[in-house]
Amino acid sequence: MLIARSSVSDCIALSLQKIVPMHDVTVSRVSARTWPSSIGPPATPYPAFEQDTFERKVVWRIMTLTNTILVTGGAGFIGSNFILRWMTSSATPVVNLDRLTYAGNPENLASLPRRDLYELAHGDIADGEFVAHLLKRHNPRAIVHFAAESHVDRSISSPGEFVRTNIQGTFSLLEQSRLYWQGLSQSERNAFRFLHVSTDEVFGSLEPQEPAFSETTRYAPNSPYAASKAASDHLVRSYFHTYGLPTLITNCSNNYGPFQFPEKLIPLMILNALEGKSLPVYGDGSNIRDWLYVEDHCSAICAVLDRGTPGETYNIGGNSERTNLEVVTAICDIVDAAAPRDSQEPRRNLITFVADRPGHDRRYAINAAKISRELGWSPQETFSRGLRKTVDWYLANNDWIQRVRTGAYREWIRKNYTERETQ
Ligand code: NAD
Ligand code: DAU
Repeated sequence: MLIARSSVSDCIALSLQKIVPMHDVTVSRVSARTWPSSIGPPATPYPAFEQDTFERKVVWRIMTLTNTILVTGGAGFIGSNFILRWMTSSATPVVNLDRLTYAGNPENLASLPRRDLYELAHGDIADGEFVAHLLKRHNPRAIVHFAAESHVDRSISSPGEFVRTNIQGTFSLLEQSRLYWQGLSQSERNAFRFLHVSTDEVFGSLEPQEPAFSETTRYAPNSPYAASKAASDHLVRSYFHTYGLPTLITNCSNNYGPFQFPEKLIPLMILNALEGKSLPVYGDGSNIRDWLYVEDHCSAICAVLDRGTPGETYNIGGNSERTNLEVVTAICDIVDAAAPRDSQEPRRNLITFVADRPGHDRRYAINAAKISRELGWSPQETFSRGLRKTVDWYLANNDWIQRVRTGAYREWIRKNYTERETQ
């Protein structure tokens, strides 16, 4: 390990001050020459850390003094894309707090370039004690909060879980973040950021001729999912105004790309099309979404974290409005070209119109002028290129697909679609 023990002085001593209280080891002043034998391996209740070598723990601690970020929900679709991007472009530590629900998959992060700088903390954002411990141990300079229940259809059949995670969980995370932040030095407090990743669904539904959602559009959430995200946005806002916690909120449109769980429109349609199954379009297929390739969302979050003004919200969108029917037919054509059926029959023939989603929002569209003007961000991917890349990813990752489609997944598909098709 490239830590020259003889040359580390203040840095190690400072680091050890951070280690010591966290592991109940009483050492007041430790010289570089004496620290390894006198301290010995620290005791910790958290196995992933305990399994590390002592030297690695020290290296980790030094780096965490200034650079660590805590990501919540980083084993999900957008969170894992974000961590992959973050750790590819900067060699700084990431702690991923994830409850590993049906939507969380540690395998998404298997290709991480610097595993030694990454730690998965398997836990719940609503578990205040666990979060407090993580904050104290890792000393993050920022929290990027993705963790949520995210599927609208599930929020219609089981809203309680959305209230628990999205509202109570975010509240608990905010509260622990506030307590942690208030204990930092003035300069650390100034530099700290709490970035809350939210959705355009908080704004409700647009009529065809209405202007796209801006940051000043009034909140009008229509589904339990949207209402729970709206409530969490309000809590985040209140922590800035009441306590001064340096928060940022992003409200983004529909994402698509690698690692999206195949309950959402695009991956579900890709997989059904590949397997020759029916393609269940809700209602008449004329509902509109504004699609954004997930890497563009991640680059926007990086821009907001880096240059956003605390207390502000930023809308993020792809400038890519499509009806659901347009999306599904585009998928059919790409899949036909990539993997023609033996019968040569076009996959468009698999499209089936099924019972509509209750309270189905007609249209979402984002006005992303503010983030473009103030932070210089704009999406880089076109919808047709992004969709082709996404189909290619699912074609190339059959093992991943098979592993996420467990019994629980099959039960959800049966529940959501069998009942729909018979209505
Ligand atoms: P996802 O469902 O794929 O992943 C959610 C992750 O959160 C999973 O890893 C899950 O295990 C974790 N999680 C759930 N409950 C938790 C808890 N109590 N404690 C810790 N971890 C928990 O979601 P996604 O599509 O990646 O969305 C991420 C965030 O972005 C969400 O907040 C969502 O509201 C928001 N968002 C999503 C989209 C989209 O199109 N997918 C668009 C805009 C905003
Ligand atoms: O707008 C941002 C939101 O986008 C995020 O906040 C949510 O987390 C994310 O899930 C997504 O919500 P949607 O409800 O828009 O996404 P979904 O993929 O579930 O559906 C997209 C559209 O496709 C929607 O109009 C419903 C329709 N649909 C969906 C499914 C799963 C179908 O027609 N058939 C389907 O089988």
